[in-house]
Amino acid sequence: MCGIFAYLNYLTPKSRLEVLDLLVTGLKRLEYRGYDSTGVAIDSPDNKNIVMVKRTGKVKVLEEAIQEHFSAGDYSEPVMTHIGIAHTRWATHGVPCERNSHPHRSDDGNGFVVVHNGIITNYNDVKTFLAKRGYEFESDTDTEVFAKLVHHLWKTHPTYSFRELVEQAILQVEGAFAIAVKSKHFPGECVASRRSSPLLVGIKTKTRLATDHIPILYGKADDKKLGPDQEIRPHGQSRELPVLPRSESTSEFMPLEEKEVEYFFASDASAVIEHTNRVIYLEDDDVAAVRDGTLSIHRLKKSLDDPHAREITTLKMEIQQIMKGNYDYFMQKEIFEQPDSVVNTMRGRVRFDGNAIVLGGIKEYIPEIKRCRRLMLIGCGTSYHSAVATRQLLEELTELPVMVELASDFLDRNTPIFRDDVCFFISQSGETADTLMALRYCKQRGALIVGITNTVGSSICRESHCGVHINAGPEIGVASTKAYTSQFISLVMFALVMSEDRLSLQQRRLEILQALSKLADQIRAVLKLDSKVQELAKDLYQHKSLLIMGRGYNFATCLEGALKVKELTYMHSEGIMAGELKHGPLALVDDSMPVLMIVLRDPVYVKCMNALQQVTSRKGCPIIICEEGDEETQAFSSRHLEIPRTVDCLQGILTVIPMQLLSYHIAVLRGCDVDCPRNLAKSVTVE
Ligand code: AGP
Repeated sequence: MCGIFAYLNYLTPKSRLEVLDLLVTGLKRLEYRGYDSTGVAIDSPDNKNIVMVKRTGKVKVLEEAIQEHFSAGDYSEPVMTHIGIAHTRWATHGVPCERNSHPHRSDDGNGFVVVHNGIITNYNDVKTFLAKRGYEFESDTDTEVFAKLVHHLWKTHPTYSFRELVEQAILQVEGAFAIAVKSKHFPGECVASRRSSPLLVGIKTKTRLATDHIPILYGKADDKKLGPDQEIRPHGQSRELPVLPRSESTSEFMPLEEKEVEYFFASDASAVIEHTNRVIYLEDDDVAAVRDGTLSIHRLKKSLDDPHAREITTLKMEIQQIMKGNYDYFMQKEIFEQPDSVVNTMRGRVRFDGNAIVLGGIKEYIPEIKRCRRLMLIGCGTSYHSAVATRQLLEELTELPVMVELASDFLDRNTPIFRDDVCFFISQSGETADTLMALRYCKQRGALIVGITNTVGSSICRESHCGVHINAGPEIGVASTKAYTSQFISLVMFALVMSEDRLSLQQRRLEILQALSKLADQIRAVLKLDSKVQELAKDLYQHKSLLIMGRGYNFATCLEGALKVKELTYMHSEGIMAGELKHGPLALVDDSMPVLMIVLRDPVYVKCMNALQQVTSRKGCPIIICEEGDEETQAFSSRHLEIPRTVDCLQGILTVIPMQLLSYHIAVLRGCDVDCPRNLAKSVTVE
C-alpha cells in the first residue's frame, strides 16, 4: 500500500512553507501505509513551474530535505490559490530509490505530476505505446507511464480540459489504483480518481457548507441517503467521519456564501480529520476535479457517445494490439505472460525480505474470518478449479473446514448458509451469473463475502464485503490461463496470512514463501517445454479423447487440463482422480486410449506410481508429467515432460502450464479458434 495526500487552497492565503507543512503532516498520518520513500510537488515561486522533492526512507527524511531545500524567502510569501501533492511509498514496481519515488512526472518540464497508490497491470503495453512516440522513461514504475500518457493526450488533444485528459488516460489503463494529478498547464486545478483503492476528499470552509449535496455527473449515482452517523459497511465497520450524501441534485459544488475553500485528498481519513470532518468517500470510477475553487465529481464515461470517444477508441485498439505482442493469439500470450502475472499478483503484498504478507483488501476482516465456522469457496469452471487446487493447503493452514462448490450446483441444493460462514467468490470476470447469484444467496443469509476477482469494479467485486484483486492483467482469451494461476496464488497468500500467528506452522509457511519467490523463474523453465509439448500435440490431435490422471495437489490440474482440452480443441477429455481408477475408469484404458498422468515426488507419489503401473499393465502408453531427473518414473514412458521441483502445494502452478500449452497446440492443429472457442463466451452473464 502507498499513501496519497494532496492539499488545494482556493482564495485562502497560505505560504508554500505552510502548504509543505500540511503535506508532510498528511504523509505522517499515512506512513503506516508505506514508508520506503516519499515525495512532494508544489508550485515554484514564479508560479511557472513545479518543484519536487523526493527522498528514500521515512517522512522524517523528506521533512529534513524540505527544510534544507526550501529556504524561507519566496516560499514564505502567502499564495491565494495553490495545489500541492504528496506520497509515501511501499514499493511495488521498481526498488525503493529516489528516481522511483513519487510524484512522477510527464516530462523534464514537470508538465504533469502524479501520485498513485495501487497497480497498473497493463503498464508495459502502455509504455511500449508511448516509447514508440518518443517518450523516454526515467523510473521503473508503472506510475510514470500514467503521467506520460496524460501528457501524450494533452499534446494530441489540446482542447481537452484537465479532467477530461485524466479521464481518458484512466480509460486506457487496467488495474486497481487511486491517483491525484497536478499540472503546471492547469494551475490551481487538481484531478483525482480511484478504482478499488481508497481515496476521499475533505472540504473545509469558514462557514457551513452551502449544500450537503455533492453532485454526481454522467450517470446515476448509487442513491446514498446515508446520514453522517449511519453505518456504511454491513459488517459492523462504522465510519468514523460524517459523510456527505451523494446526489445528482446539482452539477457542481461550491460554497455559496464565500469563495474561500480548502480541499484535502487522502488515502485515509486519518490524514484529513484534523482539518475537517466533512468528507466524501470517492467510489470506483469517480473522477473528482477542482477548478476555480469548485469541486465536481464525475462518473467515468465509458460510453461511445462521448464526443472524444472515437479518437480514444483508436488509442485503446492500438494499446490492445500491442498487448498481443508477437503472439498469434491472446491466449498464447497470456500463457507466456504468467512469469510476470504471478509476480504482479504478489506485488506489494509479499515481502520476501521479511517473509511478510499483507492483503490490504481483507486485512481488517481477518480477525472475523478466523472466528468463522467454515470457509466456502464458490466459483465456476476454471475459477472453481483454483478452489480445488488450494483446498488442501487452506485446510492445513487455516485449520478450518473448507468446502469447494460449483456455484450452479450450490444454488440447486439451496445449501444451508450461516452468519458465521465465510464465503469466497472466485471469478476472473467478476460478472459470472451463477457465481454472482450464489454471492447474493450467501449475503442474504448474513455470511461474510470475500471476492477474488481480476476485474476491478465488477459486480462481484462491488458486492463483496472485502476481497483480493488478483492483478493478473486483462485476460482476453476466452480460455482462462493466467487468471487461474493468479487465483491460485491469491488463495495461497490468504492461507499464509491466516496462519501467520501459528507457531507450529512457521516452518511450513517459510517453505512456501521461499517457493513463491522462485515461482516466476520456474514457470519460465516450464514454458521452455513448448516445442516438446507441440510434438506431443501432433500425437494427440486426431484422437477423440484424452484422459488426464492425478491426485492430491494435482487433481485440480487434471480437472483444469481436461477443461482446457475440451473448450479449446472440442475433443472429449476427462480429469480423473487416480485413486478412483480401479473403481471404473481403468476400463477405458487400452493401447489406443490417450492418457496423460501427473506423477510428482509428493506425499501421494507412491499411490500415483501404483496408478501408473495399473495403466501401463493394461497396455496404456501414458504421457507423464514428472519432476526433473526422476528417472524411475520416466522409465514407464518414452513421452514425459520434466518440470522443476517445488513445494507440494504449489506444484499445480507448474503442472498446469504444460496442459495449457498442450490444449493450445492441439487447438491450432485442429484449426480451432483459440481465442474465441465455439459456443463459449468470456464471461457467462446468464444462469
Ligand atoms: C475457463 O477457461 C472458462 N473460460 C470458464 O470455465 C470460466 O472459468 C468460467 O466461466 C468462470 O468465469 P469467471 O472466472 O469469469 O467467473
